[in-house]
Amino acid sequence: MAQETVVVIVGAGPAGIATSACLNRLSVPNVVLEREDCCASLWKNRSYDRLKLHLAKQYCQLPNMPFPDDAPTFVPKSGFIHYLDNYVSRFKVNPLYSRSVRSAVYEGGRWRVEAVSGETSVEMFVGRFLVVATGENSERFVPKVVGLEGFGGGVLHSSEYVNGERFRDKDVLVVGSGNSGMEIAFDLSNYGVRTAISIRSPVHVLTKEMVQVGMYLLKWLPCSAVDGIAQSLSKLKYGDLSQYGIRTPTKGPFYLKRTTARSPVIDVGTIDKIKTGEIRQGSWPKAMSSDPLDDSIPTTKYHALPPSVPVFPSLSHVKGDTIEFVSGKAVQFDAIVFATGYRTTVRKWLKDDGDLFNDNGMPKQRPPNHWKGNKGLYCAGFSSSGLFGISQDAENIAKDISTILNQ
Ligand SMILES: Cc1cc2nc3c(=O)[nH]c(=O)nc-3n(C[C@H](O)[C@H](O)[C@H](O)COP(=O)(O)OP(=O)(O)OC[C@H]3O[C@@H](n4cnc5c(N)ncnc54)[C@H](O)[C@@H]3O)c2cc1C
Ligand SMILES: *[C@@H]1O[C@H](CO)[C@@H](O)[C@H](O)[C@H]1NC(C)=O
Repeated sequence: MAQETVVVIVGAGPAGIATSACLNRLSVPNVVLEREDCCASLWKNRSYDRLKLHLAKQYCQLPNMPFPDDAPTFVPKSGFIHYLDNYVSRFKVNPLYSRSVRSAVYEGGRWRVEAVSGETSVEMFVGRFLVVATGENSERFVPKVVGLEGFGGGVLHSSEYVNGERFRDKDVLVVGSGNSGMEIAFDLSNYGVRTAISIRSPVHVLTKEMVQVGMYLLKWLPCSAVDGIAQSLSKLKYGDLSQYGIRTPTKGPFYLKRTTARSPVIDVGTIDKIKTGEIRQGSWPKAMSSDPLDDSIPTTKYHALPPSVPVFPSLSHVKGDTIEFVSGKAVQFDAIVFATGYRTTVRKWLKDDGDLFNDNGMPKQRPPNHWKGNKGLYCAGFSSSGLFGISQDAENIAKDISTILNQ
């Protein structure tokens, strides 16, 4: 038996619950289907302990519910989860959990969405509109590395990293230079782990304050001017990072964010650790200890910088427990953390793309025209602009559907 509704929403992350909340306010019936057993599973089950929202709270709120005045400017993970749980109950969002959507087809003017729960049970949901809210981070991505399957140590993805506790006194390599990779390297080092990082692509490094100032200035100044200011501030604070093995893109950080969805790294202290040699290409002193929870105890200080640049380039291949880099240097590690990002899974289950998605499962159109396709198909949370973009998507989609229904 198919369950009939007006809007089927797939995914109960921030995007799915915000869209459902906006539809509820406009009295449009909807169903939210979620594969996990709770909402916001990325935040609850797939993120590390020390995670905080990277942007100030006014850029991270969902529609119609600002953060309380006494909330910190940069909300920690636990506070954000608390906010999302309150949001769900306040706007009476009731996702159906443990429903993994495996296909959605458009037939006779309706979307027919098939969800599996458990091993065998299959349910069908039918609606005039379909909102894809399965996220840009639906599936882990780990690049192919020759020999990785024979690596004796631990291999994990950043979504499985909780904290540095289990790596104390080990040699760990972090691969990737996004916010997750940089922050996980920082966290490991705080736990006294002998930490190294491999960075392949050029990145911009900014502080969260620089990002905040930049976002503010973008209201009045052209992007190129804001980029100029941000890059000068970064240079002033960090100096020339290429000597440490970190290259900077030629195009500016805000320009790249707008046009390619690549985010600058928001430094949490990792650069300082790279400069002091706490994060480096091996050869650590044997005894190294620090209390990761007590900021007043300084972590081990090094007297001399290591002879080579501290940051490793790309991996070349793995041989046993030894990782060889494209520079030719080969080092043994106990574990590798791949902070190499995610992929969308839209292509796997959305059988008719309403001309909305490209082959990578991302919208064909860049914002602000990315959220609406043909045949009553929408996507929320695919503008590569985090929670800020999600709020806008949810409001636009709910308004559009309500307008169509009232015609
Ligand atoms: C470590 C980390 C830190 C981040 N920090 C920030 C930040 O500070 N600020 C910011 O703005 N953004 C941040 N982001 C980006 C973040 O992904 C978004 O802000 C937000 O969580 C995305 O929400 P979403 O609802 O689009 O996707 P998700 O939160 O990924 O939710 C999608 C949901 O869909 C479900 N789902 C997927 N496939 C199916 C299926 N086939 N059937 C049923 N359900 C399905 C998933 O289980 C998931 O619950 C961060 C991301 C990561 C990984
Ligand atoms: C995810 O975390 C939440 C909250 O801690 C918990 O209720 C839920 O059972 C967890 N789900 C999985 C699959 O671990």
